[in-house]
Amino acid sequence: MPDKVIEVKDLRFRYREEEPLIEGLSFEVFRGEFFGIMGPNGAGKSTLLKLLLGFLKPREGQVKLFGKSVGYVPQRFSVERAFTGSVQELLRAVAPKEKVGWVIAFLHLENLLKRPFIKLSGGEQQKVLLAMALATNPELLLLDEPTAGLDIHAQTHIEEVLKELAKDRTVVVVSHDLGFILRNADRILCLGAPFCRVIRPSEFNSVMRELYRLH
Ligand SMILES: Nc1ncnc2c1ncn2[C@@H]1O[C@H](COP(=O)(O)OP(=O)(O)OP(=O)(O)O)[C@@H](O)[C@H]1O
Ligand SMILES: [Mg+2]
Repeated sequence: MPDKVIEVKDLRFRYREEEPLIEGLSFEVFRGEFFGIMGPNGAGKSTLLKLLLGFLKPREGQVKLFGKSVGYVPQRFSVERAFTGSVQELLRAVAPKEKVGWVIAFLHLENLLKRPFIKLSGGEQQKVLLAMALATNPELLLLDEPTAGLDIHAQTHIEEVLKELAKDRTVVVVSHDLGFILRNADRILCLGAPFCRVIRPSEFNSVMRELYRLH
């Protein structure tokens, strides 16, 4: 029996009483898995990550995370507008200098270190966010659309990086990039309230229409 890293049971969540969002979701993620999450806009994918992280509380059901450390890359980063610090300072705020060296090399961030974070391009910021999530060397990585808005080089780079990381970590990725998910995921949670299923990548074609309500 493989190790469970995440266990979600009969999870129910809604932001507002009259708008059900997640209604009875159950799934498990196992150690070492590359676990994709796909589904239409507004289906609750980002919400689900926030429930996993404990930022939001379920109405009903359970969310369990087994393991010591979690790294999270949000869909959109809101650094305090007032934050004028450099990339280096931002990284330093997350982990001590000797711990972030490998991340800087791994993501090729050397040239960005001295630059103010808020003046970086979207893709450069995305890499820094990933670096911040990696700086503590977490066992479990939760990523919300890590390749959105990146050019083809940056996308390929992030994909390579995640592949490498996934060798000895559990990676959970929300993404609209079908190719990226189908190439890498061991299993995919298709979240499209009310449609909701965990599938293998090879099954995606058979659920796509129902998931995205295409006719
Ligand atoms: N803080 C909030 N308060 C109220 N409603 C919210 C809040 N955050 C999200 N929602 C609503 O909940 C639904 C799910 O949002 P969520 O961000 O989880 O979707 P998503 O699946 O991540 O979509 P996308 O693919 O566009 O990122 C949406 O209808 C959204 O408007
Ligand atoms: Mg989202």
